[in-house]
Amino acid sequence: MAALEEAAVAAPVVAPPAPGLEHLLDRLVVGDCLEVMASMPDASVDLVFVDPPYFLQLPAKKLTRWGSNSDVESPEREWDRFSSFEEYDNLMRSVLSECQRVMKPSGTIWMIGSYHNIFRVGSMMQDLGFWMLNDVTWFKTNPMPNWLNVRMTNATETLLWATRDRTSKGYTYNGAAAKEYSLADLDSRIALNVWRIPICTGRERLKGADGKRLHPTQKPERLLERIIRVSSARGMVAFDPMAGTGTTGAVAQRLGRHFICIERDMYYAEAAAGRLGSGVEIY
Ligand SMILES: C[S@@+](CC[C@H](N)C(=O)[O-])C[C@H]1O[C@@H](n2cnc3c(N)ncnc32)[C@H](O)[C@@H]1O
Repeated sequence: MAALEEAAVAAPVVAPPAPGLEHLLDRLVVGDCLEVMASMPDASVDLVFVDPPYFLQLPAKKLTRWGSNSDVESPEREWDRFSSFEEYDNLMRSVLSECQRVMKPSGTIWMIGSYHNIFRVGSMMQDLGFWMLNDVTWFKTNPMPNWLNVRMTNATETLLWATRDRTSKGYTYNGAAAKEYSLADLDSRIALNVWRIPICTGRERLKGADGKRLHPTQKPERLLERIIRVSSARGMVAFDPMAGTGTTGAVAQRLGRHFICIERDMYYAEAAAGRLGSGVEIY
């Protein structure tokens, strides 16, 4: 897929980043995204990728693998815990409203989630006036196994792609790139809303000092590569308010886009900064 050339899009003339973003541009900012976003001007970013807590509501008890009787390493972390759907919804509504405010009229937003949260955030987005362009199914070719054998293995996540509102015009869609991905994945000559991509493993997966995965939900670079190529052009600003290990920034940098990454957890932020070759900016 690396062979996909940017030349597939007639290179649009991209305006320089909006004034007022200088303190955040091409930086990994450590802080609460709502506080940091309050310092961003209206209508200033071209592309938003939100990979939020999914509120997985995993059981507190230790899980044992069906068959081998060994312990399952839980993906649950403190940042994914909420006391209720109401608390979760309040956070997501605030984050989405701020994203909408900082998006340019020609900007688009990608929201990713699983069956745990995507229906809630999808309906919230429609209530806020975002205009849906696609729901993309990410089919994971190597999904996490279904350790307990009490239901089918979940092998998909959903990406919602939307404009700021119904009247938005001139958003970036690189249809040629989308078609090439569909041809490679599904042998389809038309651009389909199904993407076949493995979850992040191997050398790409960042490890902590203990040799275990550093972040439970690090997204694969191939996923961000599609998002960024399909919906932005060189020189545009990609914004990720909940950046984790900085996958959005790393791919944006490689593809010649500006980025703004915010992450609240210093441990993840330092790993992300290492990946981006930048320092962390404490907000
Ligand atoms: C699903 S993970 C993102 C993973 C990321 N896409 C990656 O590839 O590594 C969500 C991240 O949001 C962060 N987070 C949660 N609430 C936040 C907030 N209010 N402000 C900033 N970051 C937050 C968490 O610490 C967590 O790292």
